[in-house]
Amino acid sequence: MEDFLNDVLTGLRDEPRWLPCKYLYDEKGSELFEAICETDDYYVTRADLALHELCVDEISQLSGKQTHLIEFGSGAGTKTERLLSSLDSPRAYSPIEISPTALEGSVKALRERFPDLTIQPIEADYTQDIDASKIKLDPPANNRLVYFPGSTIGNFTHSEARHFLKRMGKIAGDNGAILIGVDLIKPVDILLRAYDDAQGITAQFNKNILLRLQTELDAQLDLDAFKHEARFNASLSRVEMQLVAIKETRIHLGDDCFKFMPGESIHTESSHKYSIEGFQALALAAGLEPVHHWIDPEGLFSMHYLKPTAA
Ligand code: TRP
Repeated sequence: MEDFLNDVLTGLRDEPRWLPCKYLYDEKGSELFEAICETDDYYVTRADLALHELCVDEISQLSGKQTHLIEFGSGAGTKTERLLSSLDSPRAYSPIEISPTALEGSVKALRERFPDLTIQPIEADYTQDIDASKIKLDPPANNRLVYFPGSTIGNFTHSEARHFLKRMGKIAGDNGAILIGVDLIKPVDILLRAYDDAQGITAQFNKNILLRLQTELDAQLDLDAFKHEARFNASLSRVEMQLVAIKETRIHLGDDCFKFMPGESIHTESSHKYSIEGFQALALAAGLEPVHHWIDPEGLFSMHYLKPTAA
């Protein structure tokens, strides 16, 4: 709670104002995000799944027999199941997930689906260093595949993404590989619709953070004075989620009072979009060699198979 308050104060005192995106995902936020994934406007889910159908056999060939699949995230969905069922006698599966309930749920479902597979869940925050002994198998696996589907890499800045990819490379090790989803640059109208869906679920998701300020931090604010806006920042090639004041308003929080003139905003999250070449350059800078990539039939989304380069 203390951290939440301090983080909010830091962001609101800054210029331009911002709030850390992790606070979007409380229980209600996570439910809203799942609902976003089911809207027609949020093309990512659909494209990512279509792409899996297309490339799992090639991935299985690239990664070979007895792969130890290590997923960043809980892997509750169809994608992991699709990948696991096409891998050639996988050695084990390790989902790394911070939420114990999400981890439990996905492990239960996958154990039912793959009763003979060794599943070794790891309760940890994958954005932080992970204790290597938790991942290690006995005897050690010969090849690891570090798997990060979805488009979460886009939520990091380029420098954060580079560090993140480096860490993934370390976990994969010399004989391992990385399989990662990356959303592509596309016409701005499609992008903005995906981040401001017609049903207004993304708007509700973004405004949920203001509701948390009210209910959890006792902030005095007028929820109706802010509207959700998705903007495309062309120079940084990213969609920015903003909460924009539609009239003069104030947020009172503890001893601070933050005044907003109409049009002034709070930046809550960014989603970076890449070209294939742009992402490959980032991967190379992180010590990863692009081996193969796939694009879904609609040309919306990509997956990259990367291997750590010999140091
Ligand atoms: N990883 C998702 C993405 O960038 C997260 C996301 C989707 C998101 N819609 C959002 C984050 C709306 C904030 C607001 O595609």
